[in-house]
Amino acid sequence: MKDIYEPKFVEKLFDKMSSSYSKVNYITSFGFSERWRRQCVEEIGIEKGKIVVDLMTGMGECWKHILKISDKNSKLIGLDFSSEMINRAEKNKRKFEKSIIEVLKENVFQNSIENGTADYVISGFGLKTFNDEQLGELANEINRILKPNGKFSLIDVSVPKSKILKPFYMFYLKNVIPILGKVFLGSPETYKMLGIYTEEFGNSKNTHRIFNRPEFEVEYVEYFFGCASGIKGQKIK
Ligand SMILES: C[S@@+](CC[C@H](N)C(=O)[O-])C[C@H]1O[C@@H](n2cnc3c(N)ncnc32)[C@H](O)[C@@H]1O
Repeated sequence: MKDIYEPKFVEKLFDKMSSSYSKVNYITSFGFSERWRRQCVEEIGIEKGKIVVDLMTGMGECWKHILKISDKNSKLIGLDFSSEMINRAEKNKRKFEKSIIEVLKENVFQNSIENGTADYVISGFGLKTFNDEQLGELANEINRILKPNGKFSLIDVSVPKSKILKPFYMFYLKNVIPILGKVFLGSPETYKMLGIYTEEFGNSKNTHRIFNRPEFEVEYVEYFFGCASGIKGQKIK
């Protein structure tokens, strides 16, 4: 069986999805993805004049929320390894002419960001394609690139616990999303993978467990009855 967490496999998957990702993501979350990104960013109260790193940035879907409170001294670094996503992120930069945005086409596990660069780290919907070992490496990287007392907030789509919501949600993930994938991309298989990752991911409790280390203060956060979940925290030394 192929390893669905193998970086090359994930990179190709997002290369393929890039043309339709925004639309499908918006429809499949009933418009909630935008709200969740905003909430995820708001969790850590970003201040002006700071450096924010947006990991697994895609085409910069979180940027408008991050840059809402910024000034000429603020800097945003967006990182993603999919060439197609990064090409779109470079185009997206034009919408934020007044802001300093650096886009890095890099694997998060071999990134060139220097130690202690970031005041804040954000990541929207970039957790589910990592296995436990990779989540551990992600925790190492976030610890490395954050300044002391720097904050982070990470979110992903999750499987709700509610006995009422869960069956609808799973039906939607497994049946409706692949149809939308076929309509927008001509390929139901690609979008089926998102359902597979989400089902395996469950929610961010496991990520919370992995990030719950002496160097972080970390909290588990649920959004809209657990249809999304995340962690937020601070580097404490
Ligand atoms: C679901 S998209 C999220 C995009 C965006 N942050 C958002 O809010 O919609 C996940 C992104 O993570 C990127 N990604 C996955 N694994 C990565 C890795 N190891 N290094 C860098 N980027 C990665 C993918 O290329 C993809 O663009």
